[in-house]
Amino acid sequence: MLEFVFYNPTKIVFGKDQTYRIGEFIKEKKCLFLYGGGSIFKNGIYEKVVNSLKVAGKEWIEKGGVKPNPVLSFVYEAIEVARKEKVECILAVGGGSVIDTAKTVAAGYFYEGDVWDFFIKKAEIQEALPVYVVLTLAATGTEMNRYAVITNEKTRQKFNIDSDKVYPKVSILDPVNTYTVPKEQVAYGCVDAMLHLLEGYFTQSYPNTPIQDGFVETLVKVLIETTQRIFENPQDYDARANFMWATTLALNGLTTAGIGSFGFPNHIIAHSLSAFYDLPHGATLAIIFPAWLRYKFPEKSYRISKLGMAIFNDGEPEKVIEKLENFYSSIGVPTRLSQVKVPEEDLPALAENAYGFAKIRDLADYTPEVIIEILKLAK
Ligand code: NZQ
Ligand code: ZN
Repeated sequence: MLEFVFYNPTKIVFGKDQTYRIGEFIKEKKCLFLYGGGSIFKNGIYEKVVNSLKVAGKEWIEKGGVKPNPVLSFVYEAIEVARKEKVECILAVGGGSVIDTAKTVAAGYFYEGDVWDFFIKKAEIQEALPVYVVLTLAATGTEMNRYAVITNEKTRQKFNIDSDKVYPKVSILDPVNTYTVPKEQVAYGCVDAMLHLLEGYFTQSYPNTPIQDGFVETLVKVLIETTQRIFENPQDYDARANFMWATTLALNGLTTAGIGSFGFPNHIIAHSLSAFYDLPHGATLAIIFPAWLRYKFPEKSYRISKLGMAIFNDGEPEKVIEKLENFYSSIGVPTRLSQVKVPEEDLPALAENAYGFAKIRDLADYTPEVIIEILKLAK
C-alpha cells in the first residue's frame, strides 16, 4: 500500500426516519434551502424537513428548480439570493444535482470573482458556507465528498470542483426517502457508484492493494444485487439501505486511499456527452465504460478477470465485459451511442471537449485521437 492522507469530516446520520433530526444538527440560524424540480413535495420529504426546521427554531429562504445536470446560471442566481438574504448556511434536500449546486453556492458566496474560476482551476476555494444535506437519491456520493459537478451552458463544459472546504457538515441518509426514486434513476445511480469504484480499481498506479480491492469488489456486488431487489420491490428497506450506503462509500475517499495515483477517464468522456446532449450521468457512463475496457484490452485483462471472478464468478475477460453490458441492459440503461442518438459527425467535437477537461484533470494522455477511438468502440 502507498502513503496516503485520509480525511473525511462529514457526519453521517443514517437510518429510518432520521430526516426529522436535520434541524437539530444545523448550528446556524438562517439557511438557504435548495431543492430540485418538486419531487420532495410529492413524497412528503419537504414536510418532514420543514417540521424539523420549525422545531429547531430555524429561519430559511427556499429556492427550488435545480435541474438534473445542474447549470451555472442557477448557481449565480442562488448566490445572489444567499447574499441578499445574508444566509449563514445552505441546506440541500435532493440528489446529486441539488447537493452539488449547494456546494458551489457555498463556495461562491465569499468569492468576489466568477465562481466558475474554481472549476477551471483559475482560483482555489478559500472559504465556504456550511452545507447540510438531506439525501433523497442514492448515487453520486456527493453527500460525503469534496466534489461538485456543474455544467457551464455557455461554454458547454461539465467540470467539477475538488476542495476540502465543501464537504457537507452533516448528511442525513434515510433509505425511506429513496422509496419513490424511479427505476431508471436507481439504475443510473447503480452504474454511477459502480464506476466510482471501478475507475480507481482499473487505473491505480499501485496494484497490490487487497483491502481496497476487497472493498470495491464487495460494494460492486452489493450494488448489483440490491438494484435487482429494488426493481422487484421498491419498498425493500434492506435493499434501499444497503444500496444507499454502498453509493456513499463508493466515492468518499475510502476505496482509493493507498492505491497511488488514479484517474477518472470514463467520467471525463461521459461528462462531455452530458454537456452536449443533457444525458443522465449514469447512462453516459454505461455507454463509455465497456468501450473503455475494450480499448484497454488486454492491458487490463488481469483486473477484468479478477473483478469478474468476484462479481459474476466468471474470470474470462471478454465474457466479463459482455456480462457487465448485459447487466446494464437488464436494468434498462443504454450501452451504445446509437441508442441515445449521438451522430457520428459529432465525435471530433466531443473528443475535443473531453480533452479540454482531461488536461485540467491531469489526464492529458487522453488526446482527442484516443478519445475518438474509445467513442468509436461505443458506437
Ligand atoms: O428534481 P427533483 O424533482 O427532486 O427530481 C429528481 C431528478 O429528476 C429525482 N429525484 C431525486 N430524489 C427523488 C427523486 N424522485 C423521486 N423520489 C426521490 N426521492 O431524480 C432525478 C435526478 O436527480 P439528480 O440529483 O440529478 O440525480 P443524481 O443524484 O444522480 O445526481 C446527478 C448529478 O451529480 C453529478 C452528475 O454528473 C450529475 O450532474 N455527480 C456528482 C458527483 C459528486 N459531486 O461527487 C460525482 C458523480 O460522478 C457525478 O458526476
Ligand atoms: Zn459519477
